[in-house]
Amino acid sequence: MQYIKDQENLSEKKILLRLDLNVPLKNGVITDQTRIDKVLPIINYLIKKKSKILIISHIGRPNGKKNSDLSLKPICENLEKKINQKIKLIRESIFDLKKEEIFKNPKDQVVFLENIRFYKEEEKNDTNFSKKLAELGDLFVNDAFSCSHRAHASVSKITQFLPSYGGLQLETEIKALKKVTSEIKKPITCIIGGSKISTKIGIIKNLIPKFNNIIIVGGMANNILSFRGNQIGKSIKEDNCESIIDDIFKTAKIHSCTITYPEDVLVGKSLNDEAQIKELNNVSNDDLILDIGPKTINKIKNIIENSETVLWNGPAGYFENPSFSNGSYEIAKKIIERNKSNSIYSIAGGGDTIAVLNQINAIENFNFVSTAGGAFLEYLEGKELPGIKALN
Ligand code: 3PG
Ligand code: MG
Repeated sequence: MQYIKDQENLSEKKILLRLDLNVPLKNGVITDQTRIDKVLPIINYLIKKKSKILIISHIGRPNGKKNSDLSLKPICENLEKKINQKIKLIRESIFDLKKEEIFKNPKDQVVFLENIRFYKEEEKNDTNFSKKLAELGDLFVNDAFSCSHRAHASVSKITQFLPSYGGLQLETEIKALKKVTSEIKKPITCIIGGSKISTKIGIIKNLIPKFNNIIIVGGMANNILSFRGNQIGKSIKEDNCESIIDDIFKTAKIHSCTITYPEDVLVGKSLNDEAQIKELNNVSNDDLILDIGPKTINKIKNIIENSETVLWNGPAGYFENPSFSNGSYEIAKKIIERNKSNSIYSIAGGGDTIAVLNQINAIENFNFVSTAGGAFLEYLEGKELPGIKALN
C-alpha cells in the first residue's frame, strides 16, 4: 500500500478524501465526536500541503434514498469550527458536478459531498458511479479504516480509476491491529455486542479458533436466546440465523472456546422506558430486551478477571437511554480495573463503543481504541478488507 504521507507535490491537487464520519446523531445533534476528531490530522495535513480536498462520507443507512435526517450538514458545521475554515456542502447530484467548478472559488479549499449513501450505486460498488466520482479529483485517499470492510463505490471500486493512497488514520489503525494480532497473550476474550447483527453474526464462527472466550451481548444475544428456546418479546433479532448459531456452538465445542450469553436481562416496553430486571423465563410478549442483567454482568466480570487480553466491540445494551447503560459501563469498569494494575491488554472498537467509553471518560484507560467496529472484527477474522485490498 502507498500512503499519502509519502507523496510529494500535493499542492493544488484535487484530493477525493474518503472519511468515516458516521457519528451517532440524536435529533440532529452529534452525541459523540471522536470520529470527527480522528480525521483532523489528515485534513490539516492536506490543507498544509495546499491540496484541494473533496470529502466523501456516509452517515447511517439511507438505502440509496435522500433522507434529510441523515444529512451530513451537522457534521460539516462541526468540522468547519474544528478546522476554522468554511466548508462548502455540495447537495447537487454527483452526476451534474464538474471537477473544474467544484473549486472555482479560490476560497474553497475544503468541500464536502452530501451523504454518499443517498445514491443507490454506492453500496452496489457500481462501476459507472465510481468512474463518475473519480472524475471529480486527481487522487483518492482512503482514511476510513472503519468502513473499509464495505465493498462500496467510494471505498473500493473508485480505486480502479484514480491513483489511490492510504491516509494517516488508516495507517495507525492497521499498524495497531497488526501488532495486537501478532503479540496477543492468552487467555483472550472477545466481547461482541451492538445492534448490527447481520454484520457480525457471520464473523463469530471464524473468530472462535482464535479466542478462549466469546461473550455475546447486545442485539445479537437475542438471536442466541431465541435459538435456545427463550421468549424475547419484541426485541430486535435477525431472521434465518439458526444454522449460523448452530455452527457457532458446534465450532466452539471443537475449539474449546466458551460462548457466553445473557442469563438475565433488563427489559422495557419501549426504548424510552425505565428498566426492569427479568429472568429469561419471564420475558413477556411486549418486552424489549435492552440490556444485560446483574447475574450476566457478574459472569462477564469473572471472565475478564481471568483474561490476559480483552477485545471489545459493541455495547451490551441500549446505552442511549441511561436506564440501559449499566451493562456496558460495568464491562468498561472491569476492564479498566484490570488495566490499571497492568494485568491485561485491552482494545475497544466501534463508534458506539467509543461513545460509551467517552460517557465515563474511559478512552485513555484502554491500550488501543479503534474507530472501527465491523471492520475491526473482520480484520481480527484474518480477512483482507475490500477497501484495503483495493489499495494494495
Ligand atoms: C460503522 O459505523 O461501522 C461504519 O461507518 C460502517 O457503517 P455500516 O455498518 O452502516 O456499513
Ligand atoms: Mg457504527
